[in-house]
Amino acid sequence: MSKITCMANGPFLVDGVSEVVDASGRSFDLQGKTRVALCRCATSRNKPFCDGSHKASFRVDDVAPRKA
Ligand code: FES
Repeated sequence: MSKITCMANGPFLVDGVSEVVDASGRSFDLQGKTRVALCRCATSRNKPFCDGSHKASFRVDDVAPRKA
């Protein structure tokens, strides 16, 4: 089972990942990791992975609606 967490002011944290591929279908080397942080601020110099660059100015707060 995989899980994606929308980090406050940061990346998508993906747990349980088995593969990340580019647009042509080529796999990135995850070096056995099953947890990756995917950039969503577009400033990482290591896309599609987060490199911490979001800390400069990326602000977003994704909050799921509460169930009644
Ligand atoms: S989300 Fe971290 S560098 Fe983009």
